[in-house]
Amino acid sequence: MPITQNDTEVILTHPDNDATNVKILKYGATVFSWQINGQEQLWLSQGAKLDGSKPVRGGIPLVFPVFGKNTDDEYLSKLPQHGLARNSTWEFLGQVSANPPTVQFGLGPEIANEDLVKLWPMDFSLVLTVELGPEHLKTSIEVENTSSTQPLKFNWLFHTYLKVNDIEDTLVSNLTGSKLYDQLLKESYLDKQPAVTFHEELDRIYQNVEGDRLIQVVDKGTPIHTVKRHNLPDAVVWNPWIEKSKGMGDFEPKSGYKEMVCVEPGHVHNFITLNAGEKWDAYQLLYKDELKYQVV
Ligand code: BG6
Repeated sequence: MPITQNDTEVILTHPDNDATNVKILKYGATVFSWQINGQEQLWLSQGAKLDGSKPVRGGIPLVFPVFGKNTDDEYLSKLPQHGLARNSTWEFLGQVSANPPTVQFGLGPEIANEDLVKLWPMDFSLVLTVELGPEHLKTSIEVENTSSTQPLKFNWLFHTYLKVNDIEDTLVSNLTGSKLYDQLLKESYLDKQPAVTFHEELDRIYQNVEGDRLIQVVDKGTPIHTVKRHNLPDAVVWNPWIEKSKGMGDFEPKSGYKEMVCVEPGHVHNFITLNAGEKWDAYQLLYKDELKYQVV
């Protein structure tokens, strides 16, 4: 069976290879495992809660309608960090294709987390599409403003936790020359380094990265993940390192920071605003490619 489901999760298996699959939790419509031929591609904390008691620490949590903690918008500022999509149970809308196996999930205010919707009383409809290829995973989002009068203002981000072998042997390429906001230094500057390397906590929002730049995660010279973005101009790169990992109750093992890097395609530097009835869409494509140095 290429697509199976139970009360809490949906599993897609590739018809050409039983060991290639993706597992999606209905809570948050969170992809929490993606294997290619038995090899896990995403990092998932051993302490992650998969019971709907909190957002999943690992996989691909969905960030909407606000990235981080907003302080100045009347309604968005009332929401917790990273919004309400990752803390809501989505509706499984079913299969849209058998090969590549593709499914959809939906979220609107009528089924979203009740307490949070009260804080942000907007009309919206989200459809997430997950497509499993032999060597790729595509997650696409469509946001519709279902109000007939009010504009809808939001951020979107795929908070993707990629698995790596050893963070100190890992670099993230093709962001050179982009402006970034360093969330730790609270400063903006131009990244002039040939690649992003990791030796301490790192939390950066790269802004307006050209759409044709592939972001690659490179392990000792070999690209292990390639990230293509559509309509997602920003990219957050995050590794919590030692102290921050210790402070996260659901981050296990505490040495887990060595085996993950978050590369998070999003639209977070500015808000997207949809007028009544308008739609917006975007996707992230995770796949395998040869080394492509587009900028050094
Ligand atoms: C990243 C942010 O996207 O998410 C970090 O850049 C943040 O600042 C991290 O710490 C994890 O957030 P959370 O809410 O899942 O602990």
